[in-house]
Amino acid sequence: MSSTRESLHGLWSSRWVFILAAAGSAVGLGNIWRFPYLTGENGGGAFVLVYLGFVLLIGIPIMIAETIIGRRGRRSPVNAILLIAEEESLSRHWSALGLMGIIAGFLTLSFYSVVAGWSLAYVYFVLTSSFATANSLSSEAIFTNLISSPVQLLFWHTLFIGSVIWIVSKGVSLGLERAVKILMPLLFVMLVLMMIYSLLVGDALSATKYLFATDFSSLTSDVILLAVGQAFFSLSLGMGALMIYGSYLPHDASIPRTCLIVGCVDTLVALLAGFLIFPIVFAYGLEAGQGPGLVFVTLTVAFADMPFGQVFGFTFFLLLTVAAWTSAISLLEPVVAWSVESKGWSRNSSSWLAGCLIWLIGIFCLLSFNELKDFTPGGRNIFDWSEYISANVLLPLGGFLVAVFVGWRVSRMTIASEFGANSAKLFNSWLFLLKYCAPIAVTIVFLNSSGLDLLFR
Ligand code: TRP
Repeated sequence: MSSTRESLHGLWSSRWVFILAAAGSAVGLGNIWRFPYLTGENGGGAFVLVYLGFVLLIGIPIMIAETIIGRRGRRSPVNAILLIAEEESLSRHWSALGLMGIIAGFLTLSFYSVVAGWSLAYVYFVLTSSFATANSLSSEAIFTNLISSPVQLLFWHTLFIGSVIWIVSKGVSLGLERAVKILMPLLFVMLVLMMIYSLLVGDALSATKYLFATDFSSLTSDVILLAVGQAFFSLSLGMGALMIYGSYLPHDASIPRTCLIVGCVDTLVALLAGFLIFPIVFAYGLEAGQGPGLVFVTLTVAFADMPFGQVFGFTFFLLLTVAAWTSAISLLEPVVAWSVESKGWSRNSSSWLAGCLIWLIGIFCLLSFNELKDFTPGGRNIFDWSEYISANVLLPLGGFLVAVFVGWRVSRMTIASEFGANSAKLFNSWLFLLKYCAPIAVTIVFLNSSGLDLLFR
C-alpha cells in the first residue's frame, strides 16, 4: 500500500514540475563551473569516465532512494526518516542522517553562494563592457581583480543569498515553479548554441581527445574520490534536497522514470559545458588546470572575440546565475522545512535565520581569496575546505547512509510500493545497485583516499 500521508508544504502540480525542479536543483554551478574545472585539474578523459560510471551505477540509484524516502515520509528529511523508522520499527537514530544533511546544506550553500556571486558579477561586467576587448591575459586579470576584492565579493554574495532567502521564504511552488518552467529550457538552448559556436571556432579535436582519451595514469585514489564527490554534488545527492522535493511529488508519478530523466539531463548539461569550454581553452592556449576560475576566464575570452559577444555573454552569465539560484533554493529548502515542522517557526523567520547563518559562513569562504589567503590549515584555505568536506566527505557519506537505510533496513514491501515499477527486473537491478554496489563502492573509495584520514584525524 502506498503512503497516504500528506505533505505539509504543498505538492508539485505535476510530475513534470518535479522533473523541472529536480533538474533545476541538479543543473547548476556543479555542471558548468565545477565539472569543467575538476576535469581540467585531473587530466580529462579518465576523470570523465569514472564520473559517468558513478552517476549511472551509484548516483541514479541513490537519487531514486532519496526520492522514495521523501515521498513516503512527506516531511523534511529529518522527520521523514523519523516517521519511516517508526513505521518500520527501526532505530530513531537514523534521523541523524537528516541532521547531517542539514550541516552539509549549510556548508555547501556557503561556498556555492560565493561562486554564484562571481557569476552575478560577470553579468554586470558584460553590461558595463569591462571585457569587450579581453584576451587570454586580461581575462585572467579581470578574474583575479574580482576575487581579490573582499568588498566586491561580499556585495555579490549578499545579493545572491538574499534573493535565495527571499524566494524560499515565499514557499517553493509559487516562485520556483514559475521560474524553472521558463528558465531551464532557455539555459539548455543557450548552452547548445554556445557549444556549437565553440566547436566551430575553437579546437574541437583537442577538446574531444581531452574529454574522452582515457589516460588511466592520471587516476589516483584521490581523483576517484573527486569523481564520486562530483557525482553526488552534481546530482544534488546526500543532503536531502531530493528527499524534500520528493516529498512534494504526487502519488502517481513514477519515481524511477523521473529520476532517470533528471540524471540524464544533468549529465548531458555537464558534457555540453565540457564541449563548450575546452575547445576555447585549447584554441586560445589557456591553462586547463587553473582551478575554480576556469569557466570565467575561458568564456570571457570567447565572448570578447565572438560576434554579438556582449549579448551572448550577458544571456549566458544571467542563465548561469539562474541555474545556480534554482540549485541554491534546493540547498536551503530542507533546513527551512525542518525548522518550520519541528521548531514551529514561520517559514519567513526560518528562511532568514538559516540564510543569515549561511551568509556568515560564506564571508569566511570569500575572504579566503584575499584577506585570509594565507590561512591554509592542512594545505587548504577555508573555501577549499568547505568544498572538500561537503562534496568529498559529507555528501558521499550521506548517500552511503541513504543506500544502507533504504536498501537494508526499510522493508521490501514499502520500497516496492513507492518504486512502483511493473517490471520486477528493473526493481531488482535497482535494489542490487543500491544494496551492494553503492555502499561498497563508497566504502572502498573512502578507505583508499585521504577522505579517511580526514575523518579520523
Ligand atoms: N547540484 C547542484 C549543482 O550541480 C548543487 C546542489 C543543489 C547540491 N542542491 C544540492 C549539491 C544538494 C549537493 C546537495 O550545481
